[in-house]
Amino acid sequence: MKNTVIPCLGAATVAAALLSAPALAVELTIACGAVGIERQVCIDGANRWAEQTGHSVDVVATPQSSTERLAMYQLLLRERHNTVDVFQIDVIWPGLLGEYLLDLSPYVPDTDAFFPNLMANNTVDGRLIAMPWYVDTGLLYYRKDLLDRYGHPVPQTWDELETIATDVQLGERSQNGNFWGYVWQGSDYEGLTCNVMEWLVSSDAGTVVSTQGVVTLDNDRAARIIDQAAGWIDTISPPAVLEYQEEDARAQFEAGNALFMRNWPYAWRLANEPESAVSGNVGVTVLPQGDSGMPSGALGGWQLAVTEATRYPALSADLVRFLTSESEQRRRADFGYLPTRSALYNEPELTQGNAVFEPVGRALENVAVRPSSATGRTYKYVSRYVSGEIHEVLRGTKSTSDALASITDRIVERGLGDLQRP
Ligand code: GLC
Repeated sequence: MKNTVIPCLGAATVAAALLSAPALAVELTIACGAVGIERQVCIDGANRWAEQTGHSVDVVATPQSSTERLAMYQLLLRERHNTVDVFQIDVIWPGLLGEYLLDLSPYVPDTDAFFPNLMANNTVDGRLIAMPWYVDTGLLYYRKDLLDRYGHPVPQTWDELETIATDVQLGERSQNGNFWGYVWQGSDYEGLTCNVMEWLVSSDAGTVVSTQGVVTLDNDRAARIIDQAAGWIDTISPPAVLEYQEEDARAQFEAGNALFMRNWPYAWRLANEPESAVSGNVGVTVLPQGDSGMPSGALGGWQLAVTEATRYPALSADLVRFLTSESEQRRRADFGYLPTRSALYNEPELTQGNAVFEPVGRALENVAVRPSSATGRTYKYVSRYVSGEIHEVLRGTKSTSDALASITDRIVERGLGDLQRP
């Protein structure tokens, strides 16, 4: 039996391979994914392309921290290495990396199908240097069961979050000494800049640098919300939050050690997997608002770009075209990687069963856009000053007023005359 079946299967497989194999199969390399299950979701997509084309794709591991990933990419791109063909790049990097990346417009047939503001973000000096892959924004995750048990509503303001977190934390501590009210990303890296942007924009305190290049950070509303956030350390947030990135916050929340968590949409599905201790007890909504603002979320998200140094420009662009195609974006939406093609938001089958679509839509109405367009190639320093100095305030080693003044000075100096004080 065995002997008769195997030769038949073998012949069919060989025939299929011969029919589909390109004259010269090559291996492309893509740098993608890192946080949560993102790398696996990327590998699955790359494999689908490989099956269709007969080529293969090597998916290289990248650091989880966006800041560290940028350093790795800059090294590879500046030195024109061709070891990686396709790069997953952050929404804030086009101005920093554009000069090393291929113009994709000749290769992408349906550029009109993507959100125009993302396409504009990815167009540098008239060249489309990356295709939008997914949209991200900061969200508030909460424990539905605990809010019910203690009789609290979902918080609308940062003050309410503080009060509710304090009360539930006090109650839960009798059973769980590791329980905290609110976990977020306080490590000194790009993720802290995102948290700070959300505090600012939800308090109507500006965006650090305005679209006209004015450094607006040093204002009373900004000082108030940053002081408030500094007050969370060791009251409703663990001291260790000062070293937390996305995955650290998720681990604490999924272990049942936190009432509230700030994270991106990818955390929704994972928090509800069987391995999560809080599966089924989680709610997700917009982040709270400040005294005078509206709820907001930082605009995050990732793009796919091809290095100009690649040996395979057309094939690499084809991999990008495939990974950003409708079918891939539909598949990825289930994992919390929200589409960059506007038409997909009109598909109820896609949006209605997925709890993050609604709060993401609300957060985007007052989205906190990091000042990467206004500052271009200096954005990296702007973000480093913001996260570095605010980190010191959170640690209690610097006053808010000193930090705001110092960030402003440093940005203006680095701007070499392009960026101004109010
Ligand atoms: C998410 C966002 C990205 C942001 C990063 C910060 O990956 O999509 O835009 O820079 O988090 O940690």
